[in-house]
Amino acid sequence: MTFHPLIVVHGGAWKIPEEEHTPHGEGCRRAALAGWEVLRAGRSAVDAVEAAVRALEDDPTFDAGRGSCLNAAGEVELDAIIMDGRTLSLGAVAAVRRVRNPVTLARRVMEKGPHNFLVGSGAEEFARYHGMPLISPEELIVARERARWEAWRAGNGLYTENLFAPSGTVGAVALDREGHLAAATSTGGKPNKWPGRVGDSPLVGCGAYADDRSAAASATGDGEALMRILATGTVCAQVARGHSPQEAAEEMLRLLAERTGGYGGLIVLDPRGRFGIAHTTPHMAWAYVLGDGTLRAGIRVPNCPEGILCGRGATTGGGLVSR
Ligand code: GLY
Repeated sequence: MTFHPLIVVHGGAWKIPEEEHTPHGEGCRRAALAGWEVLRAGRSAVDAVEAAVRALEDDPTFDAGRGSCLNAAGEVELDAIIMDGRTLSLGAVAAVRRVRNPVTLARRVMEKGPHNFLVGSGAEEFARYHGMPLISPEELIVARERARWEAWRAGNGLYTENLFAPSGTVGAVALDREGHLAAATSTGGKPNKWPGRVGDSPLVGCGAYADDRSAAASATGDGEALMRILATGTVCAQVARGHSPQEAAEEMLRLLAERTGGYGGLIVLDPRGRFGIAHTTPHMAWAYVLGDGTLRAGIRVPNCPEGILCGRGATTGGGLVSR
C-alpha cells in the first residue's frame, strides 16, 4: 500500500509582532517545502522532519538554532528531539551550545549510540566524535536577540512569563510513502531562562512524540506547563482513542490551560493523513504540504483556521507554482 506523503511544520506560538509575520510565514513555507522534497523523492518521514527542522534552525527568524533567544547569562543553549514512529526510536539533546543543527545531533544520538538523550558537553563531544563540526557559541547569536537580552538586563533582570515573550520553538511532523510517521522539535527555550534550564521540547511525549499506531505531534509554548501534561504523548493517545487530530489538539490545549494555566500550540498528524493545528496564543506560524502537492503557509490567529496566509502555492512535479 502506498500512502500520500504529507508534512506539517510550525514556527512557534506567541504574539508574533506584525512586522515579523512575513518572515515567520515564509520561513515555515521554505521548511515545509524542504521536508516535502525529501518525501517526494521517496525518502522517510524521519529524513523529512529532520530536513524541515534544519531549515527552521538555519533561519534566524526562529527561536531554534541560530537566532535563538539568550539565557540569563547571555548565552544560547539549544534543545531538540526527533522520533521515528515506525520503531519508537528517539534521540534528544539539551543545553548544547556549539552545534548548529541540534536536530541532526538528536538524530545521530538516535542512530549511532546506545542512549536516547544526551546533554551539555557530553552531547557536544558525541557530535564531534560522529563527525559534526563544533562551532563557536557566538555564531548562534544574532543582533536582535543580543539587543533583547541587553534590554532585559537593563530592566529589572527578573524572568517573567508572558504570552508576548518571543517563543519561536519549531517543529515538524510527517507521513511518508510507506505510511510511517515521524516528529521533531527544536528550540532555544525561553528568553532569559536560568542557565541549564531545559523545557518540554527535548522530552519525549512532551515536546514531540511519534507512533505509527496513533499519531505524530510537536508542541510549542510554555515548556514548564506542557511537560506537566505530557502534551504530545497524550495528544497521540487521544488520536488512538478515536479523536481527530484537530479535536485532540484543541482538547489538549484546553487541558493545558485548565490544569496548569499554561499556553501553547500543537501540530498533530495521523497515519491516515489527517492533521490538526491548534494554539492558545495570539498567533502561531505554520505551513503544510499535502499529498496532492497543495502548499499553505501563514500566521494563524485564534478561531480562524488559516489566519493570515503568506502566499499560496501548489507543488507540481519539479517545483512550486505560486498562485
Ligand atoms: N517550549 C519550549 C520551551 O519552553 O523551552
